[in-house]
Amino acid sequence: MMPSPSEKYRPFPQVRLTGRRWPTRTIEKAPIWMSTDLRDGNQSLIEPMSIAAKLEFFELLVATGFKEIEVGFPSASQTDFDFVRKLIVEKRIPDDVTIEVLVQSRRELIERTFEAVEGASKVIVHLYNAIAPSFRRIVFNQSKDEVKALAVEGTRIIKECAAARPGTHWTYQYSPETFSMTELSFAREVCDAVAQMWRPTPEHKMIVNLPATVEAAMPNVFADQVEWMDRNMGYRDSIVLSVHPHNDRGTAVAAAELALLAGADRVEGCLFGNGERTGNVDLVTLAMNLYTQGIDPGLDFSDIDGVRRVVERCNQIPVHPRHPYAGDLVFTAFSGSHQDAIRKGFAQRQPGTVWDVPYLPIDPADLGRSYDAVIRVNSQSGKGGATFLLERGLGFTPPRRVQIEFSHAVQAVADQSGEEVCGDAICALFRREYFDVTGPVLRVNAATLRVQGRSVAMPAASGAASGDVYAEAVAVALGMAAQVSSFETANTANGETAVFVGCRVGEQAVRYGVAVNANAALAVVDAVVSAVNRAQWAGVAQVESEAVAA
Ligand code: KIV
Ligand code: ZN
Repeated sequence: MMPSPSEKYRPFPQVRLTGRRWPTRTIEKAPIWMSTDLRDGNQSLIEPMSIAAKLEFFELLVATGFKEIEVGFPSASQTDFDFVRKLIVEKRIPDDVTIEVLVQSRRELIERTFEAVEGASKVIVHLYNAIAPSFRRIVFNQSKDEVKALAVEGTRIIKECAAARPGTHWTYQYSPETFSMTELSFAREVCDAVAQMWRPTPEHKMIVNLPATVEAAMPNVFADQVEWMDRNMGYRDSIVLSVHPHNDRGTAVAAAELALLAGADRVEGCLFGNGERTGNVDLVTLAMNLYTQGIDPGLDFSDIDGVRRVVERCNQIPVHPRHPYAGDLVFTAFSGSHQDAIRKGFAQRQPGTVWDVPYLPIDPADLGRSYDAVIRVNSQSGKGGATFLLERGLGFTPPRRVQIEFSHAVQAVADQSGEEVCGDAICALFRREYFDVTGPVLRVNAATLRVQGRSVAMPAASGAASGDVYAEAVAVALGMAAQVSSFETANTANGETAVFVGCRVGEQAVRYGVAVNANAALAVVDAVVSAVNRAQWAGVAQVESEAVAA
């Protein structure tokens, strides 16, 4: 038994905010994105990235469209220091990309950080210190004034170091770590004091980044905190307001989205949500959520599998098969009703219209995914799934009654194996069921049938006679008490004719025959032959099962 939560945990306090603006707003544009994969993400890995891996990841981030990339914590890690030097010395940073480096509020660490970024044309220097009550009390034993003074002093040193290096365009970022667990008035006091020291202007803004270092409350509470800061912080017109959600409660994406409604201009996070504990906010999901609302995220995930491969290789952590937008299974339907709806959605889709395919919130093709994985068949699937795969594999759509009949064959295979039946297997099964079926009737050539060993001349196909009349004539020629009960045709993707004939032989239930041929008349003959032979097998099976039962 878990201990009683009411004795062990307290609800997170609500923010006293009246006239909330965020609930009535909508997101109309993408935020400034900052990837901290190479810093926060890297710090959380079992095996931190090598320089080669960091470089591969950096190049991926650049190619994806990130303009701000936190490349490391150079005063804390020699690998990070060397990596930053490599980027600069080898001129690997595009002109429109700004690198960011993290540092704590200590002179020697700040100086080492400036050493690392020497020669870069644009840098964001990112200072942080923890300011929440439990950190002041438990971790650092510091008063509010001491915590504030530490932030201001770090800012002062960074300002001095930056002024001494006018060749670089410096942006300053301050993060009151553990912001989301801090008294709001104190968070504002610290941020205001830091801004007062840095003196940002509307032309040269600083970044105030509000971390949910540990996600501790519902996303609406975080949104209230952000809106409160947005309304009350000093220098607001000279500040880029940033958020840095972690995902401890599993709601980092929601927290980031509501924070954007609440006034945030910028989001820090990692691809696929890597990061400490349960991760940083997932920038792929955030960006694609915007995309599916018709907003250009400014990040290119048109080869999501390629992006995923690089990230998995560098982080050495797999992306979950059900991860939004990127997982292997997220565009796959196994259930029959879903497959049916998706198949109809695709069939009715008109090019150039708004995306509206049931169960698919995004066109997989926009992420570079093929449609192959959209419908997969197992024992949970229905006729829609098998039909979709047949359409793709054989290039025609069987009529509904044939779909129903064939779905029993697929179901039997799926039930027997307990496994997925892939598209190739379904097409092979269809061929075996309808095209390759042997029995008492054989078409010898374009003019002759062989029925139980004797030759029968095929009836002449008169141009005037319709297909069903001709099929009936073939059935009569067979002389086997075969009656045509239904007749349908379809054009195949490569211009041949597919014929579907329902036949009753004697007292048996109707069986369907299918044939495809460039010559429509031969397709009719083959379809009748297929149906009669299938009926014959069904008859044998029936007699055998009656014998077993007896
Ligand atoms: O989660 C956090 O608080 C951080 C800061 C350093 C911004 O990663
Ligand atoms: Zn973090």
